[in-house]
Amino acid sequence: MQSFSSEKAKLNTKVALVPTMGALHQGHLTLIELARKKVGPQGVVIVSIYVNPTQFGPSEDFDQYPRDFDSDHQKCVQAGVDLIFAPLDSDMYPGKSSGNYSTYVEEKSLGRTMEGESRPTHFRGVTTIVAKLFLACLPHVSVFGQKDFQQVAIIKQMVKDLNFPVEILVSPTYRESDGLAMSSRNKYLTPLQRRQAPVINTLLNEVCVRVRESHKNGKKINQADLKAFAEKYIVLQSEARLDYICGFDPNTLEPAKTLNIGHQVAIAVHFGEVRLIDNICIR
Ligand code: PAF
Repeated sequence: MQSFSSEKAKLNTKVALVPTMGALHQGHLTLIELARKKVGPQGVVIVSIYVNPTQFGPSEDFDQYPRDFDSDHQKCVQAGVDLIFAPLDSDMYPGKSSGNYSTYVEEKSLGRTMEGESRPTHFRGVTTIVAKLFLACLPHVSVFGQKDFQQVAIIKQMVKDLNFPVEILVSPTYRESDGLAMSSRNKYLTPLQRRQAPVINTLLNEVCVRVRESHKNGKKINQADLKAFAEKYIVLQSEARLDYICGFDPNTLEPAKTLNIGHQVAIAVHFGEVRLIDNICIR
């Protein structure tokens, strides 16, 4: 993989990487489109497909995570992807099965709240694998989805802190027609859960309305008000359970004392075994 990308760089050909864990859906295809737009028809678009074990906690869905290489391959061909990088565990974590792997990349600040609180080892796994994918594919540019807002912020920080010569592009969240953010995990939802899941997006939009109102009437909304409002909203859906909701500064990820226009709101909701996340900017 490295010699392929180094050859391209020597020829001045731009290389874009779209890192994925497979189970590709329309959301991924928009990342691929953005990558192609950035490097042009002469550039190389690589999609990596790797279900990274180190970003899953012990009781999470690593074993159940959907894997369908043939379907992913077909979608990549149709989308005009030049190369799929689908490494094995033994490529990405050599020696790990015999206890001889001991290097990880960890961002120490932005990853402490929200997803980091609910999934304590998750971001260390993400930064480690993304660093390794960058070192394998040597891309000039890499594209990530806005749905994973905190992940993007952490990867940008890692790129800056470790001087990776990679430009990070962010693609807007792609939604189903009922507002549910596209996710490989949507496949696990039962029909009832699938019908209820758009509540996440409706709730986020409703929070925006409330914050705009509070801006006018001076009744500030703090984190406790936000949580109470979300709980009340979510409880109406029999299958849903709120994990967290947080309003924060989109640059620092610092939770806001009171919510205002320009803040970001992120949420995680459980539907049975399935955990979905989403976020919105209060405009
Ligand atoms: O967002 C994802 O799908 C994963 O976290 C990533 C960036 C591919 C790393 O495994």
